[in-house]
Amino acid sequence: MILAIETSCDETCAAVATSDGRLLSSIVASQVADHAAFGGVVPEIASRRHLDLVGAVVAEAIAVAGIAEASIARVAVTAGPGLIGALLVGVSFAKGYAYARGLPLIAIDHLHGHVASLTLAEEPPAGAHLVLLASGGHTLLIDVAADGTCTTIARSMDDAAGEAFDKGARLLGLGYPGGPALAELATHGSTARRSFTTPLAGRDDLAFSFSGLKTALSLAVQRLAAGDEQGRADLAAAYQEAIVDHLVERASLGLRQTGRSTLGLAGGVAANGCLRARLETVPARLVLAPLDVCGDNAAMIAMAALNRQALDRGSFLRLDAYARSPLG
Ligand SMILES: Nc1ncnc2c1ncn2[C@@H]1O[C@H](COP(=O)(O)OP(=O)(O)OP(=O)(O)O)[C@@H](O)[C@H]1O
Ligand SMILES: [Mg+2]
Repeated sequence: MILAIETSCDETCAAVATSDGRLLSSIVASQVADHAAFGGVVPEIASRRHLDLVGAVVAEAIAVAGIAEASIARVAVTAGPGLIGALLVGVSFAKGYAYARGLPLIAIDHLHGHVASLTLAEEPPAGAHLVLLASGGHTLLIDVAADGTCTTIARSMDDAAGEAFDKGARLLGLGYPGGPALAELATHGSTARRSFTTPLAGRDDLAFSFSGLKTALSLAVQRLAAGDEQGRADLAAAYQEAIVDHLVERASLGLRQTGRSTLGLAGGVAANGCLRARLETVPARLVLAPLDVCGDNAAMIAMAALNRQALDRGSFLRLDAYARSPLG
């Protein structure tokens, strides 16, 4: 059995899986309510809440899995990227847990976790594939070789897709987290009445960019007449469509340039219904991360740990948290 712990941002998560990859439990304690009043994640509040919650969340993951705690043979933990204070809570807890029980510890990169969330799909990718990872902090095209080696072939020049959703939501006067709120408002709008230019349209460089779109939305919101609710919904629909168009175009370009025939979609923005539907039109076998593992969770950390080398007791005490991923 493997116990996985994830505390990189504002969700305290623990999961239990068998050593052959059967998920037995996945607990996500969201801190959204603690941060909502501030319009975004407050790092110090996140760290303190992780500290309050991590022990109980791990105990719940073990209880829900219905296993004897003694059957846990390995511990996996997200070591980065993310908020350092938040990560250190999970890393320190995992070190203490593993050390006290004489267990090996596996350090997992959060982005490898998002890629591994695809193994929880009904029909996971088999062999080499391309992954569109769109989350709150990253927008990447990751080429995954048949042996699982990950290579980033495209990244954002400025904001991440999730950040674009969150900043767009703020401009439209919506709450935090912004992605789901903007997507909901967009369902009441029409792209026939409003549109934004797709970023980097017609260019064949593998990169993403969202900051120009955000500026365009900001200008459009300023021009909106007070009380024009339909206009606001139309802007949300047009803004979402431009983000989705851009993601779909770059993913298609990535498939053409790499010759891969399978595309995976992972990360928080992978929960977006419009993006999920539009990617169905891409000429590739599409693997969508299940909705419950798009956002942060420890199930994906357990999956990422399955075939990974563990640190022994001697070396894992030196394990440190890090803010930037080599894949990022
Ligand atoms: N339905 C949705 N439509 C669009 N965006 C969404 C939706 N649901 C969630 N998001 C966005 O996903 C992001 C959160 O994803 P995730 O939890 O993977 O990010 P993160 O862990 O903070 O960043 P990273 O994984 O890059 O470190 C937020 O920006 C949120 O607005
Ligand atoms: Mg994430």
